Amino acid sequence: MTGRYHETDPMSDVISDDYRMLQMISRFGITLGFGDQTVAETCQKAGVDTGTFLTVVNFLTDTNHAHINEMVEHIDLPTMLRYLKNSHTYFIDYRLPGIRRKLIQAIDMRSQIAMLILQFYDEYMAEVTRHMQYENTHVHPYVEQLLEGRRGEQTLADITSQHEGSHSSIDRSLTELKNIIIKYYPNDQNAALLGDALMDIYMVEEDFLNHCHMEDTLFSQCVRRLEESPLLASPAGEETSPSTPPMAGDGEGALSDREREVIRLVAMGLSNKEIAERMFIAVNTVMTHRRNISRKLDIHATAGLTIYAIVNGIINVEDVKL
Ligand SMILES: [Fe+2]
Ligand SMILES: [Fe+2]
Repeated sequence: MTGRYHETDPMSDVISDDYRMLQMISRFGITLGFGDQTVAETCQKAGVDTGTFLTVVNFLTDTNHAHINEMVEHIDLPTMLRYLKNSHTYFIDYRLPGIRRKLIQAIDMRSQIAMLILQFYDEYMAEVTRHMQYENTHVHPYVEQLLEGRRGEQTLADITSQHEGSHSSIDRSLTELKNIIIKYYPNDQNAALLGDALMDIYMVEEDFLNHCHMEDTLFSQCVRRLEESPLLASPAGEETSPSTPPMAGDGEGALSDREREVIRLVAMGLSNKEIAERMFIAVNTVMTHRRNISRKLDIHATAGLTIYAIVNGIINVEDVKL
């Protein structure tokens, strides 16, 4: 197998070389205390497929993913599926709520901006949770059905394209949140705590990106191979290609007076229809303004736009609707 680690390497090396692998081994259900055992011995004892384990370790520790096709050969799909499911539980039940608790401790909850930051984080958490629950209830059962030898009506590409939030849109929300805290939060007291919460946000972002990347490459390719297998019960599905969600543009520029007015009304809690009525313009025009604003500022969530409006004096804090 190509990659940094092999079956005969001591398991302890995997952790001591890169502490982030601690999270990875626990998602495989492997516990610490493996002494001088090799990777293969530890996996065998824990009932984990060694090929899948090594593929995931090598994928995470080597960012040059030039050998994906070869890596896929060593994956046992049921093991991979269990790993992804455990990762979802880790994010939804443990990691994201933990960061929320830290944020609450770190920010001054009497401040309007702090409340908006928390609201922004909650929106992010809800988006990730919806995304992962969709995978738990739609993507994983579909793959389990394939593993039982039955082809479905749809392909993996069809199912993932019906996702509400794409990997890139979720990551964009987190980037916005980090930028808002860094640029706009008046770091009065609790600087150490806020720094700590921010560090966690950076780490969870990296972890989440790796997770998504693994789903988009290793996992998808494994499933595609299975979909193409002639051994499946029903006729072959349509040919598919992975969908690539559009990335946000990076246009910069000053806001026009109309755009500033739209932001002010958004921060007041008005809907697009209400904004259109106030400004005597069509709803479609409001939506165009909002798209242009988001592109210029790289802020998409309402809470983020509201924070921007407050700190840039577009609206008074008293007029903001929480
Ligand atoms: Fe996932
Ligand atoms: Fe995903």
